[in-house]
Amino acid sequence: MASTPLSPASPAAAGTTSVAIDLGDRSYDILIGEGLLQDASAFAGLPKSSKALIVTNTTVGPLYTAALRAAIAPHHKQVLDVELPDGEQYKDWPALNQVFTKLLEEAADRKTVLYALGGGVVGDMTGFAAACYMRGVPFVQVPTTLLAQVDSSVGGKTAINHPAGKNMIGAFYQPQRVICDLVTLDTLPQRELLAGLAEVIKYGPIADAEFLGWLEANLDALLARDRTALKHAIKRSCEIKAWVVGQDEKESGIRAILNYGHTFGHAIEAGLGYGEWLHGEAVGCGMVMAADLSARLGLIDASTAQRITALIKRTGLPVQGPDLGADRYLELMQVDKKAEGGEIRFVVVGPLGQARMQAAPEAMVRDVIATHTA
Ligand code: NAD
Ligand code: GLY
Repeated sequence: MASTPLSPASPAAAGTTSVAIDLGDRSYDILIGEGLLQDASAFAGLPKSSKALIVTNTTVGPLYTAALRAAIAPHHKQVLDVELPDGEQYKDWPALNQVFTKLLEEAADRKTVLYALGGGVVGDMTGFAAACYMRGVPFVQVPTTLLAQVDSSVGGKTAINHPAGKNMIGAFYQPQRVICDLVTLDTLPQRELLAGLAEVIKYGPIADAEFLGWLEANLDALLARDRTALKHAIKRSCEIKAWVVGQDEKESGIRAILNYGHTFGHAIEAGLGYGEWLHGEAVGCGMVMAADLSARLGLIDASTAQRITALIKRTGLPVQGPDLGADRYLELMQVDKKAEGGEIRFVVVGPLGQARMQAAPEAMVRDVIATHTA
């Protein structure tokens, strides 16, 4: 799997590790280290431009904009910033338009570099804004949640939500670099840390049974924010994501396995209204349902499904979904991007450490929903 020493284009302090995303002329590095926001060398080699725009939100901006501004000052004559409202419910057109308005009011040109400073919501929206503004400007991901550091900032999926479906309006658009500063995780609320761990756990069942064992053994250290444990978890997650995205950038095949737990999870998020459950919480619960479905399909045994469920429960994530009614779950899952011709397709595990897409009999899916909702 892709893991390289730092390339000359992206030098950074000792102790910083990197993972390469190998996509030809769209390749880039993910840097993972402590204090990278204070380390100008983590930003070396990135595009220089007259103007830059830091896109952040009202929570993250006051914490980290000043440090990012100082780090990138040598690259740009003028560094602007825009603070979006905080929350999944604002991952929408009006908030996105705030970014375009800022760019146009400031006469930003097509060389302007956008910096996404925040979690997955800010990252997805900034990436989409960068893909659209003047038909494409460069952008850099500076993820500040665990979820964003292990998943959303990597791989070029950008989007906003539509009331009828999550992440339905978007583009594939790769960043120039991903800069993960472990220190930013210090201010992350514990609930958000747990939601990020859901996406970390995901990589075990779908791609690396050994990593699942490592997570079981090191969960307490991760919950206590031990930096060494977090660094390993982030690196391994990014390596697996890099390996998958390197084979299938635009999700015509294997990339869909990264959506393990997401078909049920997206239904929970959309069904309750965005922002009620955190994305990672919904994915965690969705993984419990998808593990049960995998067992019912005979792809793993019941004890393996139980093992996955036990880890999610130990993490402190919900393992029982809201009772939206099976009909509503099915309706919402039909607008999932993995559905084809109205047929719902699930990411299922089997054997442990491998995953694939598969349809399932409706009665079986209804049984799974009934078993795991309350
Ligand atoms: P988020 O962006 O809403 O961030 C969670 C909360 O933490 C927010 O309130 C945010 O302001 C706050 N926050 C962020 N960093 C902080 C810090 N360092 N200190 C204190 N508070 C901080 O949520 P998220 O879990 O990061 O991302 C979820 C989003 O990511 C969803 O919209 C999901 O669809 C998307 N996603 C995208 C991909 C992808 O491949 N593009 C993959 C997974 C998830
Ligand atoms: N989070 C799913 C993907 O990046 O494909």
